Amino acid sequence: MKQSEVLAIGLRGNMSKFSLKIAAAGAICAALTIITLLYISRDIMQGVYNLPVVLLVLFVGIMMFYLWIDNNQTVFIRDLNEMVKAIAQGDFSQSVIINKDDELNNLNESLKLMASKLNSRLLKTEHEKDQMETILTSMVEGVLAFDITGRLLLMNKTAEDMIGITFVEAEKRFFLEILRNHQLADLLKKCLSDGSRQVIEANLSPTDQEYYRVYITPIIGKDEVSQGVIVVLRNVTEVRILEQVRSDFVANVSHELRTPLTSVKGYVETLLDGAIDDRPTAKKFLTIINTETDRLNRLISDLLYLSKLETGRIELAKKWISSQDMLDHIIKLLEPVALEKNITIESTVNTGAGSVFGNPGMLEQVLINLLENAIKYSYDGGIVNIEISICEQGRSIKVIDKGIGIPAESLARVFERFYRVDKGRSRKAGGTGLGLSIVKHIVERHRGQVQIESEEEKGTIVTIILPIN
Ligand SMILES: Nc1ncnc2c1ncn2[C@@H]1O[C@H](COP(=O)(O)OP(=O)(O)O)[C@@H](O)[C@H]1O
Ligand SMILES: [Mg+2]
Repeated sequence: MKQSEVLAIGLRGNMSKFSLKIAAAGAICAALTIITLLYISRDIMQGVYNLPVVLLVLFVGIMMFYLWIDNNQTVFIRDLNEMVKAIAQGDFSQSVIINKDDELNNLNESLKLMASKLNSRLLKTEHEKDQMETILTSMVEGVLAFDITGRLLLMNKTAEDMIGITFVEAEKRFFLEILRNHQLADLLKKCLSDGSRQVIEANLSPTDQEYYRVYITPIIGKDEVSQGVIVVLRNVTEVRILEQVRSDFVANVSHELRTPLTSVKGYVETLLDGAIDDRPTAKKFLTIINTETDRLNRLISDLLYLSKLETGRIELAKKWISSQDMLDHIIKLLEPVALEKNITIESTVNTGAGSVFGNPGMLEQVLINLLENAIKYSYDGGIVNIEISICEQGRSIKVIDKGIGIPAESLARVFERFYRVDKGRSRKAGGTGLGLSIVKHIVERHRGQVQIESEEEKGTIVTIILPIN
C-alpha cells in the first residue's frame, strides 16, 4: 500500500476529530494485516500453513482495508457537506483537503472554484449596494419605491425628512398610509396599472406648506413587465416663492409707473382742452407734470440701480473713507431739502471712528436714502442726527430722527421693495418705496447688517453695522 494513496481528509483549519480517529483506525488495521501476512508467509516458507486460514485472514484484511477506504470517503463527503453548508451560510473560508487525484477531488476543486466565484460576486453586489445607498442618502430629492401591490419597498433619508416618517415605520405600508394625498395615490395606481409616467406639483398632505414636484415612474424589469413604481419628490417651494415675488414685482412696477403716467396724461389732456390759455393754471399743471416726471425718473433709476445690485453688476471696490468728509458731503447735498422743512442736520464722529471701510459711491447712496427718509418723515423744525462710532464688528452708522415713527407691525416689512406705511404720504414726498431695499442690498454686499428701531410719534433709529475688512 503506497503512502500517496492514503487519503488525507479533513476540513482545513478545522480538521474533524472523527476523520482523525478513522485515519488512525485504518492505519492500525493495515499494520495488523501486514504483520499477519508476514507471519503467514513465514509459516508458508516453513511449509506449515493452513490454506483456509490463510484465505480467511487475507479476506478479512482486504475487507478491512476497503472498509477503511470507504470510511474515509464517507468522512470526505461529510466534510464536503459541511463545507457546502458553510458556503450556504456565507462562510467562504472553509475547504476540504484531499491529496488523491480522482473524481472526488475534481468535485472538491469545482466546489472551491464555485465558492470563490460566489464570494467575489457577493462582494461586488455588496459594494454596489453600498454605492447605491450612498447615492440615495446624499440625494436632495426624496425617493420612494413601491412594489406591484403598492407597498413600500425603499425610502431614502430625504424622503423620510420630507414626509416625517421613518422607513422602519413605513416599510410594507401602502402609499396612502404614508402620504395622505388622494390625487397622488390615484396617479400612483394609474402608473402601476398602465405603466405611464406621471408628473405633478402638489403638497404632500392637506396641512403641508411646502410644494413638491412629484415624478412617478414605473420600474420596468428585463422582461418589460412593470415591477412597481419609483416616486421622486423635489421640493419646489423656493422656486414657487421666487415666482410669486417676481410676479408681485412686475405688478408693483407696472402700478408704480402707471400712477404718475396717468397723472401726466390727465394734465396734458386738460391743457390741450384749453387750460393752456389760462396761464396760472397752465403753470400749476406743468409744475405737477414736472414733479411726476421727476418721480418717474427716480423710480426708473432706483429700479435700475436695484437690478444692478441684485445681479452683482456693480463692482464692490472697498477703501478707507474719511467719516467726516463723507458726512459733510452728504449733508451739503441734502441741506436744501432739510431747509424746506426747517430741519437741522447734526453729525457726530466718535473717537476711533475717523474712517469707514467700504465702497464710497454705495455708502453715499445708503446715507442719502436714510437721511432723506429721516427728513421726509420728521416734523417741521425737527433735528436729524447722524453718528459714526466704532463697534465690535467695525463701524456703526446711526441715523436718528424724532419724526412720525413706524408702527410695530410694519417694521419688519419696510425693507421690502415698494413697501410703504403710508403710500399717499410717501408719494407726496417723492418716495418710490425702494430706498430701504437699496440700503439693505448695499449693506449686505458689504457683509454688514442693518437694524431699525422705531416708535410711532417718537422717532426712528436706523443702524448700519459695517465690517472693517
Ligand atoms: N425715518 C423714518 N421714519 C418713519 N418712517 C420711515 C422712515 N424710514 C422709512 N420709513 C417708512 O418705510 C417706508 C419705506 O421706506 P423707503 O424704502 O425709503 O421708501 P420711500 O420711498 O417711501 O421713502 C416708507 O414709506 C415709510 O413708510
Ligand atoms: Mg426712502
